[in-house]
Formats: sequence, C-alpha cells, structure tokens
Amino acid sequence: MARTTHHGERGAGFTVVGRVLILAVGSATVIGHSFLASATVPRRGELTFSNPAGVHRTVMATGSLDQDNPFFEELGTNGRSCFTCHRPAQAWTITPEELRERFARTAGQDPIFRTNDGSNCEGGAPASLAERRRAFSLLLTKGLIRVGLNVPANAEFDVVDADDPYRCNAPLAAVSMYRRPLPTTNLKFLSTVMWDGRQTLAGQSIDDGLVVQAREAVTGHAEGAPPSDAQLRAIVDFELGVFTAQAHDERAGRLSEAEVRGGPRRLIREPFCIGINDPLGMLPAVPGACLAPASGFDPVVFTLFDGWRQARSRDRRAIARGEELFNNRQFVIADVPGLNGTAGDPVSGPIQGGTCTICHDTPNAGNHSVSMPLNIGIVEAARRTRDLPLYTLRNRVTGDLVQVTDPGRAMISGKWRDVGKFKGPVLRALAARAPYFHDGSAASLAEVLEFYDTRFGIQLSAQEKADLLAFLRAL
Ligand code: HEC
Ligand code: HEC
Repeated sequence: MARTTHHGERGAGFTVVGRVLILAVGSATVIGHSFLASATVPRRGELTFSNPAGVHRTVMATGSLDQDNPFFEELGTNGRSCFTCHRPAQAWTITPEELRERFARTAGQDPIFRTNDGSNCEGGAPASLAERRRAFSLLLTKGLIRVGLNVPANAEFDVVDADDPYRCNAPLAAVSMYRRPLPTTNLKFLSTVMWDGRQTLAGQSIDDGLVVQAREAVTGHAEGAPPSDAQLRAIVDFELGVFTAQAHDERAGRLSEAEVRGGPRRLIREPFCIGINDPLGMLPAVPGACLAPASGFDPVVFTLFDGWRQARSRDRRAIARGEELFNNRQFVIADVPGLNGTAGDPVSGPIQGGTCTICHDTPNAGNHSVSMPLNIGIVEAARRTRDLPLYTLRNRVTGDLVQVTDPGRAMISGKWRDVGKFKGPVLRALAARAPYFHDGSAASLAEVLEFYDTRFGIQLSAQEKADLLAFLRAL
C-alpha cells in the first residue's frame, strides 16, 4: 500500500510539498530541527524541496532520516551544527538567497553569522545591523565561508602581497580564502575530500578523511572540543547515506519516468570505485580504488536521459540533447595545470578531442573519479572581482610571481605547481545551489557555460548552450 502513497506524492502535489517543507525549514532555527519530523515528509527517508528549476529530493540509503543524528546537534560552543551550513533545502550547502532570509529573520544573529569564519575578516563582533551586513557581505552575496590557512613551512613560495578589500590586517603567512561549502550529499562518489583535498591523506580512505573532516568541522566551524569517536562515526555514516538529485523539472516533468534514470534513488545503487572511468587509466593505490584498471575511458559519463531523445516533449528532448553534448561535444583542452599545463603533468600537449567528461568522468555523478586537482583558471587575476582579495605569490627559487584569489591546493602541498588547483565536484542537484565554482563566481549555470565557452574557445551555439543548460538543471 505504501507504493500508492509514493505515486500520489509524485503527482500534482509536488511543488506544494516543496513549499510546505521550505516553510518548515524557515522556522527551523526557532524550533530546532523538528522540521525533519514534519508530517509533510511524503515518504520515509525522503525530503523534497522546490528550487528555481523544479524540485530536488534527498533520499536516504538506510530508508529513514535520523533527525537525532549528531549532524544536526550543536556539538560546539557557538550554536552551530553541520546543518547550519549544510541544508537539505539547498542541496546540503547554503545559498545567498536563503542566507539573506536567515539574516533578516534573525537580525543577523543566526549562528552562521559568527566571526570565526562567517565574516569577511576574523574576530570582532560588529554591533549594528548595517555593520553586520557589511562584515558578512561575502556570505550574504555569494554564500562564501572564510577558510584561513597558513602557508606551509616548507612551501616553495611566499605570499608577498595581499590586495585585500577588507584590510583584515592578517600577517602574509596566513591566507584567507573564501569558499562555497561543498554539499554533504552523494559523498559515496568522492575521490578526495574538500576543494583542495586537504582531508584526504596519503594511503587513507575517503571514510578516514570524512572522520577527520567532521572532527575539524566541530573544533573549527563550531568552536567545540573534539566529539567522541562514536559521534564522528554516526555523522560519517549518516553523510554517506545521503543522496540528492533534481527530481522534477518545471518544464520536462518527472525526471525518473520509466524510460529515464534521473532523480536521487538510482544513485544509491550507482556503482563507484576510485578510478572507475579515469581517462588516464591511472589506478591509484588507495583504499576504495577499483580492483582492476578501467577497461578504457568511456566519454559517455551521463546515461540518465537518453530515453528522451525521441520524446514528444521538446523540453525532454532538450535535456537528452544536453546530456549528449556534455558527453560528446568536442573542444580543445589546453594548458590545464594538473592535466596538461605544466611539465610533469600526465598529458603533454593539448587534448584535441576533449569533452566535459574528460574531467567530469564519474558515471552519473560527474566529479573526478580519481583525486586530480586541476587549475582551470577560476582564480586568475583577470577574473578577479573587487569583493575578493588578490594574493601575490613569489617562487622562493625562481623569483617568479603569480597573482591569484585563492592559491588552492598549494596551501596544502606547498608546491608551486599546485597553485590554483581544485577538485571537480559532484554535479548533481545543481539547480538548488547556485552560485557555482569554489568561489561562487558563476551566479548561474548559464554563467558556468559562458566561463567554459571562453576558457576553452568552444564556440557553443545558442542552441547548444540552451540544451546544456536544460541538462545541467535536470541533474
Ligand atoms: C560554517 C559553515 C560550516 C559548518 C558549520 C560545517 N561546514 Fe562542512 N564545509 C564548509 C565549507 C566552507 C566547506 C568547503 C571547504 C573547503 O573545501 O575548503 C565544507 C566542506 C565539507 C565537506 C567536504 C565535502 C566534499 O565534497 O569534499 C564535508 C564532508 C563537510 N563539510 C561536512 C561537515 C560536517 C560533518 C559538519 C559538522 C560537524 C560541517 N561540515 C559543518 C562549511 C561548513
Ligand atoms: C579541464 C577539466 C574540466 C573540463 C574540461 C570541464 N570541467 Fe567543469 N569543473 C572542473 C573543475 C576543476 C571544477 C571546479 C573548479 C573550481 O571551482 O575551482 C569544475 C566545476 C564545474 C561546475 C561547478 C560545480 C559546482 O558545484 O560549483 C560545473 C557546473 C561544471 N564544471 C560543468 C562543466 C561543463 C558543462 C563542462 C563542459 C563544457 C565542463 N565542466 C568542463 C574541471 C573541468
């Protein structure tokens, strides 16, 4: 009988369900997280929310959503929990839109507005509302959290100048980087933890990395004592069971119709091991790696919507064409440090028949299937906007200078060649969590496509852009 309920919920009641849940989440800071127990949750272990492109849904591999998990608990001293920055309504991250609502509702007092990492500069609790709005401007405009790291002692470079719009007056040995929280969903597909891979240690599994990550999130973001091993285990088990995807497109309708494979539920069973579809056939010796090398790279990474190629609905055909373009549209990939941009990279010279899937290669998830930090140029001085600092790095041996808004992986490895490198994140439930890239520099998916079109000189036609957009919104 349970099935009847599921089907009922997929009909006209959809957006209504989404709105009801959003209202419930709106008051969550006041009433704790009891929204998770809301009677409007249509199916055990499912959470459904509306977003600008339709509806996205979270399902739990365990079948039920445990609202008592320490993920939702205030484990520190400043009122924050993981849920403060990782919210199911925003595909398990945060969005500027919701943060502005939160700011207005709480007069800027919600625990996310703490000066340890929520404000542009560390410390000093601004008093007036206008001052608070200024102090938390990057959070309110782009959903960015400040990540402060010291230049590693053995680094091959020094930070010799900081053009910092906030004049935080930090010593140059410490760098403030402003980054989007990565979604705490679909973590089963990770090949590295964090934008710069800093929670993935040599020889350790992703699971180990997630445990360390959760501990540091409590001691850092929540300013608490380290939680118990049992609490950490519970958090990581919870995170690994969360799956999220767009479930309903406002134009094309239900994304998990019989002939297609969209929506979150299929992700639970989607096979994954590290290196599963790596174009370079590297089989890293890490726990969780595939047992045998991939039998050749398959550029057809997404196979969700091919059943709609001949669909009667033009919106469904557009999604299918977009998927086809993402998999197969060729362009030249050149000068990408980490791939083929510097001496010692795995590929020498331009990749003539490149595709989006050369980098976004994990089947139906779209992240890198191996840990491979890349510099695609997001942090370049030419793209810098006045709201971000610009750091000048000098190579300790050669004296070469480079200017970036975020040194990326280099702040972990200390290596000059790692400047500006970041991981390629999982590409699901995108529509629910603008803006994009680690620094939120692309306000929309259309801007993401503009970035790629320019960066790689792809010359996408208006039709191709529209189709790719329809596909990305349906993920
Ligand atoms: C103040 C906001 C904030 C809070 C609170 C917070 N996070 Fe995060 N989280 C972030 C940011 C920002 C990043 C990305 C940082 C980076 O990569 O440099 C992130 C990244 C992550 C990632 C990495 C995902 C990936 O794809 O690599 C995981 C996992 C995660 N957080 C889990 C947690 C857990 C568990 C808690 C609670 C114990 C928590 N977070 C609390 C802001 C937050
Ligand atoms: C050379 C490798 C490479 C290629 C080719 C590539 N990407 Fe990416 N992609 C990345 C990396 C790395 C990031 C993360 C960059 C960052 O935020 O610093 C990323 C980020 C993204 C994001 C943002 C995800 C988020 O959560 O913010 C989207 C969307 C995306 N890529 C789509 C595409 C599309 C569409 C194409 C083809 C037109 C494409 N990518 C081609 C490497 C690549």
